[in-house]
Amino acid sequence: MSLLAKFERYPLTFGPTPIELLPRLSAALGGKVQVYAKRDDCNSGLAMGGNKLRKLEYIVPDALRSGADTLVSIGGVQSNHTRMVAATAAKIGMKCVVIQEKWVPHYDAVYDRVGNILLTRLMGADSRLIDDGFDIGIRKSWEDAIQSVKDAGGKPYPIPAGASVHKFGGLGYVGFAEEVARQEAELGFTFDYVIVCVVTGSTQAGMIVGFAAQDRADRVIGIDASGTLDQTRAQVRRIVDDTAALVGLGRAVRDDEIVINPDYAYPAYGVPSDATNDAIRLAARTEAMITDPVYEGKSMQGLIDLTRKGFFPEGSRILYAHLGGAPAINGYSYYYKDDGPTLPNRRKPAAVPVGEPRIGESTRHDALPPLFP
Ligand SMILES: Cc1ncc(COP(=O)(O)O)c(C=O)c1O
Repeated sequence: MSLLAKFERYPLTFGPTPIELLPRLSAALGGKVQVYAKRDDCNSGLAMGGNKLRKLEYIVPDALRSGADTLVSIGGVQSNHTRMVAATAAKIGMKCVVIQEKWVPHYDAVYDRVGNILLTRLMGADSRLIDDGFDIGIRKSWEDAIQSVKDAGGKPYPIPAGASVHKFGGLGYVGFAEEVARQEAELGFTFDYVIVCVVTGSTQAGMIVGFAAQDRADRVIGIDASGTLDQTRAQVRRIVDDTAALVGLGRAVRDDEIVINPDYAYPAYGVPSDATNDAIRLAARTEAMITDPVYEGKSMQGLIDLTRKGFFPEGSRILYAHLGGAPAINGYSYYYKDDGPTLPNRRKPAAVPVGEPRIGESTRHDALPPLFP
């Protein structure tokens, strides 16, 4: 019986997300493990979807019950979360105010005009740019926004950053764990590891509670992208405890069941390293799977590096949770205008066949040397 049976859910997603084998990525990593992706990035028709919608499905019933007329939330300039709150507000017919703080030291000329923030504005949200830096905690700017809605005679419904420290914020990814178990029964095998990006915490925390009910929470490997590990870990711990109590898990989750790897968050939240960008390119060139420089590129980097280091025993099946986030890449176009410092000359066409390509023949992809040789 589902841990979520007693909770109301407002559907914002298409339903269970597909799991697909990534054969060319697996082969590029040496072929000793099989990498699969669970495509939560393709989970909805709402403004390109992503992980926040699973969380918001359990928050919307509370928002509707509250009689609120305005969702109020917060994130960075290129926040996926505020895009998803704006989408939800549009879909349920509420107004939306989102605070977009300067969480990322990144200066692409169009950073505050393209990608997530463009879509957020398009959906009618009142997007307010604020000059404060990165912090996953409760912010004064957000409290001020809530007050401003009240001052204008409205009724705000507050949703914290990442929908994480909301009392129902962990539920959606409890459902993810249950969904994976159902899909495994159909597939006829189980996954040995789940890789998931972690920043504000409720995605991994929900998974931990859901997989703890299946006694395998320690197989969820969080890849930190916050760069503030202690704060993120403490927040995951808190959400795990609150969510476990809320769903009636019936036991405490041990500290060793919360696994977060801090090695790939450098140089800072929202700033990709060369290795992050290489990981983004490899996933794109082997599987046409688009990951972003803030979140999924870092968890992809972690997956790649851990695989290459032999962290996963041979024969392991690894499930990469793709949580969305691709729109932000538009704010980082400068990184990708060429192949970057660690991949010199990769696009020099020396190996590209001269003359007319025959139909079916690759003009460049297979001609390129492999990434990470
Ligand atoms: C695309 C993407 N991946 C991963 C995360 C991290 O999830 P969480 O904040 O629940 O830890 C987020 C949001 O912060 C996100 O938008």
